[in-house]
Amino acid sequence: MISKKIQDAINTQINRELFSEYYYLSMASYFNSAGLNGFENFFLVQVEEERFHAMKMYRFLNERGGRVFLKEIEAPKTEFKSPLEVFELAYEHEKLVSSLINNLVDLAIQENDHAARNFLNWFVEEQVEEEASMDAILNKLKLIKGEGHGLLMLDNELAQRVFTPPAK
Ligand code: FEO
Repeated sequence: MISKKIQDAINTQINRELFSEYYYLSMASYFNSAGLNGFENFFLVQVEEERFHAMKMYRFLNERGGRVFLKEIEAPKTEFKSPLEVFELAYEHEKLVSSLINNLVDLAIQENDHAARNFLNWFVEEQVEEEASMDAILNKLKLIKGEGHGLLMLDNELAQRVFTPPAK
C-alpha cells in the first residue's frame, strides 16, 4: 500500500508528464507550420515518450493500491520565435522535470518507501537521456546559428527518429 503523500506526489507528476506531452505537441505544431517536418517528427516522438512516462506512473500507482486522480492540464506556450528558442525551452523544461523527479526520490526516501524509490530510479536514468537529447540538438542549432543549409540537414536527421516503447 502506498502512502497518501507519495500517492499525491505521483499524481502531481503524472500531471507534469501530461503537461510535457502537451508542451511538446505545441512545439510539434509550431514546426509543422514552419515547414520543418523532421523537427515536427522529433517532437511527435517526444509526445509519445511523455505519454509513456505518465502511463508508467499510472500503472505503478494502481499496482500499489493507490488511486490516480487527474488534474487540469495547464495550457502550453503556443508561439515560438525560432527553432533555437524551442530547444532552449525544451532543454530548460527537461532540467525542471529532472528536479521534480529528484524531489520525488527524496520523498520516497523520507517515507521509507523502497518500492517507490526503486521505481523512480528508472526515471532518474531516463532524465539523463532526456536532458542529453535536448542539449545535443540545442548545441547543433547553435553551431549552425539556427538557419540555412545546416537547419535543413538537421531537419532531415530528425525525420529519422522513431518511438520505441521501452520494456514496460
Ligand atoms: Fe517525462 Fe521528458 O520527461
